[in-house]
Amino acid sequence: MPADSKTNESVSMIDNTTGKKVDFPLLTGTEGPKVIDIRTLYSGLGFFTYDPGYTSTGSTESKITYIDGDAGILRHRGYSIEELAEKSDYMETCYLLLHGELPTSAQKEDFENTITRHTMVHDQMNNFFRGFRRDAHPMAVMCGVVGAMAAFYHDSTDITDPHQRLVASHRLIAKMPTIAAMTYKYSIGQPFMYPRNDLDYAENFLYMMFAVPCEAYKVNPVLSKAMDRIFILHADHEQNASTSTVRLAGSTGANPFACIAAGIASLWGPAHGGANEAVLAMLGKIGTKENIPAFIQKVKDKEEMLMGFGHRVYKNYDPRAKIMARTCHEVLSELNIKNEPLLDMAIEMEQIALNDKYFVDRKLYPNVDFYSGIILKAMGIPVSMFTVLFAVARTVGWIAQWSELIADPAQKIGRPRQLYTGAAPRNYAPLHLRK
Ligand code: CMC
Repeated sequence: MPADSKTNESVSMIDNTTGKKVDFPLLTGTEGPKVIDIRTLYSGLGFFTYDPGYTSTGSTESKITYIDGDAGILRHRGYSIEELAEKSDYMETCYLLLHGELPTSAQKEDFENTITRHTMVHDQMNNFFRGFRRDAHPMAVMCGVVGAMAAFYHDSTDITDPHQRLVASHRLIAKMPTIAAMTYKYSIGQPFMYPRNDLDYAENFLYMMFAVPCEAYKVNPVLSKAMDRIFILHADHEQNASTSTVRLAGSTGANPFACIAAGIASLWGPAHGGANEAVLAMLGKIGTKENIPAFIQKVKDKEEMLMGFGHRVYKNYDPRAKIMARTCHEVLSELNIKNEPLLDMAIEMEQIALNDKYFVDRKLYPNVDFYSGIILKAMGIPVSMFTVLFAVARTVGWIAQWSELIADPAQKIGRPRQLYTGAAPRNYAPLHLRK
C-alpha cells in the first residue's frame, strides 16, 4: 500500500460483547470511494468479514484501470475509453496497460515489432490441437492450449526474473490470436494459417481466421478497424471475476501461462465473458420482435435473464456498450446489411428495458456484451468463438494485472476466509454402526 493512500481519518469498530474498540485507517486513492483498511481486524477483534461476491471488498491496490460505475466512466491509466477507442489502436492500448504510459513512436514501433515476431506458436502445438475433438467448444480448447504453453515455453516461466515476465507477457499477447484462430480452423477442418508479419494485430487475426492456403485473402479495412476497436473495448476492466482469478492464481507463484488459462476458464461463464454468446442464443430463442414483450415479462418474473444487461459495477450505461452500438451500425453499413433482424430486436429490447420500471429500479443497462455479438456475427465470426475473442482482447489486461501483482513487494498469497456452517465436532462411527 503506497504511503500517499493514507489519510488521517479512520473508522472504529466496537465489539459490543467485550467493549473492545479498534480503529481502522481510511485509505484514499486517486479517485473513487474511500477504503477501510481492515487488515488488523482479525488480530484486533478476532473477527473476519463476510462478503460473498465481494460486493464491498477491495482485493488489491492497482494503478491500471479506474471505473466509476454510477457515472458510467472507464479509464485506463487515466485515459477515457471513449478517447482510446476513437484515437488509439489496440497495440498502443496494450503498451499503455503494460507500461503505464502511451508509447513514443519509437517505443510503439519496437513494441509492434516484438509482438509481431512472437505470433507464431511452437510447431509441436499443432499436434497438441489434434488431441481435441473437432466439436469441442473453442473455449475448452483455449483453456487447454494456453495452459499447455508453460510446457512449450519453459524459458519464460521464472516469475522472479523481470525479463522472463516481460517475454511471457509478449508471448501471450502475440500468440493468443494465433491460438484462437487455430481453435476455429481445427473445428471446421481447415488447415492452420501461419501469422503474417506484414499485417497489424487485428488484420492478422482476421486473416488467420478466414484465409485458406489456396487463394489470396484481402482483409476488409473497415472490419479490421472494427475488430481493433472491439479489442480495445475488452482490453481491461479492473478486478472483474477473470482478472481476480488470474491474480489469485498468480499470488501462489504459478507461472503466467497457467494464470492466464485460469482467467480464460473464469471468463467462460455466461455471467461474465460468455454473455456475448448467450445474447445471441437469447435473441435466437426470442425469434421475432413480436415475442419481445412476452420475453421481457419472463425476465421480470425471474424465469429468464436479459443477457447483455446489468453489471456489478455499472449502475449506468456501460460506456463500452455505447461505443459498441455505434460500431455495430458502422459494420452493418459497411457490409451493406440493411435489415439485420437481430439488431432491430436488440434495439427494441433496449428501448423497452430502459423504460421499464423493473430495469430502471435495478439500474440495469446494456453492457459491453449486448451489441458485440451482433457485430461479430455480421463479420462472420461463429457464435462459439465470441468468448474466445473476448479472451484474446482481455489477455493484455490479465497480464498487466498479473505483472503489477508480481512486481509488488508487499504481495501475499490470496487466501480468503469463510463462515463455517457445517457439522459441529462429532465422533467417527465405524462402518458397521452407520445407518
Ligand atoms: N436480467 C434480469 N434481471 C437482472 C439482470 C439481467 N441481466 N441482471 C441483474 N438483474 C436483477 C437481479 O435479478 C436482481 O434483482 P432483485 O433485486 O429483484 O433480486 C438485481 O437485478 C440485482 O442483480 P444482482 O444479481 O445483484 O447483480 P450482480 O451485480 O450480482 O450481477 C451480472 C451482475 C452481470 C452478473 C448480472 O447483471 C447478469 O447476470 N447479467 C447478465 C449476464 C451478462 O450480461 N454478463 C456480462 C457482464 S459485462 C461483461 C463482463 O464483465 O464479462
